[in-house]
Amino acid sequence: MKRKGIILAGGNGTRLHPITISVSKQLMPVYDKPMIYYPLSVLMKMGIDEILVITTPHDSAAFQKLLEDGSKWNMSLSYMVQANPDGLAQALILAEEFLGDHPSVLILGDNLFFGEGFDSIAMKTNSCKDGATIFGYPVHNPEDYGVVGFDKNRNVISLKEKPNFPASNYAITGLYFYDNRASMFARKICPSARGELEITDLNRTYMDCGDLNVELLGRSTTWLDTGTHRALLRAANFVSILEEQQGVRICCPEEIAFCNGWINVEQLRNVIEPLKKSEYGQYLLKILERENKGLKLSSNMQ
Ligand code: TTP
Repeated sequence: MKRKGIILAGGNGTRLHPITISVSKQLMPVYDKPMIYYPLSVLMKMGIDEILVITTPHDSAAFQKLLEDGSKWNMSLSYMVQANPDGLAQALILAEEFLGDHPSVLILGDNLFFGEGFDSIAMKTNSCKDGATIFGYPVHNPEDYGVVGFDKNRNVISLKEKPNFPASNYAITGLYFYDNRASMFARKICPSARGELEITDLNRTYMDCGDLNVELLGRSTTWLDTGTHRALLRAANFVSILEEQQGVRICCPEEIAFCNGWINVEQLRNVIEPLKKSEYGQYLLKILERENKGLKLSSNMQ
């Protein structure tokens, strides 16, 4: 069965206040596009064309205005609200009906992944439908994240949320692949001391069954989260440097839909029309021109 995607774009974004008092964090710009385009692109590049976007009740309309029902990119986007930010694992409970018997991939709406190494590992993971897979990324401050611990054979033996004494320097990133048991397991989780349904507890359930795989990401991947003012600026700088130096843009859903063969030249022209006064739209127009000249853009730079 095809894997379905979930983008978790709720939360209060309190570390970005006052910016996020009236606007959702995941609608904030990261340089030239709304933050949610980055996780959306990760899913689209894997070929996931059925995605549920989970938002706060008051931000739902703004997300729907931006992304609509996905038909402009020939994919399906649906929406659900999370009444309160009761934890990441609640996404799997909210998505239960949407998922049915399908395997899933959950991505956090404020995470940015980029790199050829990452693309190939994500594609490989997507093709494996059993158990769960999470990703470890080396960081200098593991105590601020969920952390994975290993035995000497690199088997996962511990998962801890914001540990005082981290078992490794591998933080668990905001991308989680699950088989069709995730909602059922999530229902059995109890709220943590901070009152949230922790994704670490869901992952631990898979670990205890011997069904958790951890892939370690390295230098060929950039992983940035955008939860603080400094992190948001750093992410914007990363995207601007990459795009301006190479003259390409990354994580444009229109381009990915086109490269995936989901939309044709005519449909691409239509989606560009309202964007063409911006440099973003001009970039997409160049893709059209190249297509007309028979020159294809390298797909690994999306
Ligand atoms: P966090 O960064 O942990 O929380 P937050 O976005 O509310 O920010 P802050 O800590 O500054 O208050 O959330 C990570 C991602 O998960 C982010 O995209 C928001 C999302 N999220 C939900 O959608 N629902 C939730 O219940 C929680 C806890 C987070």
